[in-house]
Amino acid sequence: NRNGTSVSGVGGSTDGRMAEGESELTLTNRQGHPISYNQNIRTVGHRGPATMENYHFIEKISHFDRERVPERVVHARGAGAHGYFEAYGTVGNEPIAKYTRAKLFQEQGKRTPVFVRFSSVTHGTHSPETLRDPRGFAVKFYTEDGNWDLVGNNLKVFFIRDAMKFPDLIHAFKPDPVTNLQDNERIFDFISNTPESMHMITFLFSTWGIPANYRQMQGSGVNTYKWVNAEGEAVLVKYHWEPVQGIKNLTQKEAQDIQGKNFNHATQDLYEAIERGDHPEWELYVQIMNDDEHPELDFDPLDDTKLWPKDQFPFLPVGRMVLNKNPDDYFAEVEQAAFGTGVLVDGLDFSDDKMLQGRTFSYSDTQRYRVGPNYLQLPINAPKKHAATNFHGGQMTYYADRAPGQNPHVNYEPSSLGGLREAPKSGKDYTPFVLGNLVHQSIDRTNDFKQAGETYRAFDDQERDELITNLVNSLKTCRKSIQMRMVEMFAKCDTDYGQRVAQGLGLAEGAGGSEKVHERGGPIGATEAHEATRE
Ligand code: HEM
Repeated sequence: NRNGTSVSGVGGSTDGRMAEGESELTLTNRQGHPISYNQNIRTVGHRGPATMENYHFIEKISHFDRERVPERVVHARGAGAHGYFEAYGTVGNEPIAKYTRAKLFQEQGKRTPVFVRFSSVTHGTHSPETLRDPRGFAVKFYTEDGNWDLVGNNLKVFFIRDAMKFPDLIHAFKPDPVTNLQDNERIFDFISNTPESMHMITFLFSTWGIPANYRQMQGSGVNTYKWVNAEGEAVLVKYHWEPVQGIKNLTQKEAQDIQGKNFNHATQDLYEAIERGDHPEWELYVQIMNDDEHPELDFDPLDDTKLWPKDQFPFLPVGRMVLNKNPDDYFAEVEQAAFGTGVLVDGLDFSDDKMLQGRTFSYSDTQRYRVGPNYLQLPINAPKKHAATNFHGGQMTYYADRAPGQNPHVNYEPSSLGGLREAPKSGKDYTPFVLGNLVHQSIDRTNDFKQAGETYRAFDDQERDELITNLVNSLKTCRKSIQMRMVEMFAKCDTDYGQRVAQGLGLAEGAGGSEKVHERGGPIGATEAHEATRE
């Protein structure tokens, strides 16, 4: 806890042996040597020089030299908490077993421990939490069948629908490789050539682009997954978290005022709420579709730039999640936490959503680099159930994943000498049939602008006003050709949308604004007041 009197979950195993005169609070090094000289290095005389055999000093400083691991390539800034998920046993009014055999959902009241990490996307580990950016909402469920990670965002749609474009998207939003400044011109250069991003941009530049904190924001799996029942039948699903605390977003001005005083406000808000016993809670909803292409829809259900209309595909509650415990150690738990879209349990499956498939390679790949090849042996990432594998060795192997009673000489399968054996099947296999030519092609029903227009019209006046102001403030630092392309796309979403941005940029009725001088830097969506302070 805060006073450091409990280190549960942090310390290594100990049999409690202590030398005479030692207490639990006696400082030691990692070899267990009691340390009685922690103020001065060992020197020849009190003024030096120092000697090389200063074991405690060299261990202390060289460990310090290695305290950081690479930050996440995206979502570097985050905060985390522990809690539980409680199942309703139903989906809407039906028993959930009709759609999925995943054990964590089956019984009403069944609790599964969870760890959640919230994050912002673009900037580094200590960047302000007030920036206009999607927010990550990643949940690790420690189920009896092993871990399930639901790696989502606060917004329900995404910028792109094909994993091939992800590095380009992120490069455009990250700082310029030369100036090291985030640059609206680079962002909108990419966006104005990426029409499928219009829906996400419409959310991001409205008040929805700056959640007030982590407790009062939604979460969404964004990508389309599948559920599989005991008969091996599948449906398509989307997941959504709704905060019981309600939703609160910030205007650009409100965010700037907070940022002037506190750039860690979201981490602080989450930590303090949990410490005072005000435990945040979310309800988990799903939307369900039959597992087919749905030619009757004007969008593809595998396209993550689209919402599934609520009136056709209602939000059905399946459980609730409560966060009730702060991490004992930020680095050990939050920084080393590793979530991935490949981490599913029996009864949950992948869809053919191309983003989801690309993501599924990317997460564990980056984690083997960021944390190390044995990252799944760390307590925060390991399942809270038996894990018995024949994986062997690698840097920082903490233990062998052996089962009790396993012949330790057998780290291969199959074997008749007492090694691990394959698990029995838990239901009928789901075996989708796939046939087609291998191609590099986009999906058919791209329909890039319609839903963005619907979202624009569904906003209230304040959301729309903020959207226009934030877009105009960001776009006015871009060259005219980019402004024109953006206005053209906004107008395709909704005529009023296009006209208002054009007016704000002085481009109305083809009047043509002057070619803007390209200004670099400044957070996206920043207001004039903020820009003035930059000058
Ligand atoms: C983090 C890749 C799209 C949500 C990450 C990380 C990578 C990555 C490499 C860092 C992971 C780590 O270091 O542990 C990708 C790729 C994508 C993609 C290649 C598209 C093809 C998305 C989408 C969402 C999302 C659509 C939202 C649904 C997250 C979240 C994290 C994350 C929440 C932070 C997880 C944490 O808290 O540790 N992503 N991502 N990503 N991504 Fe994605």
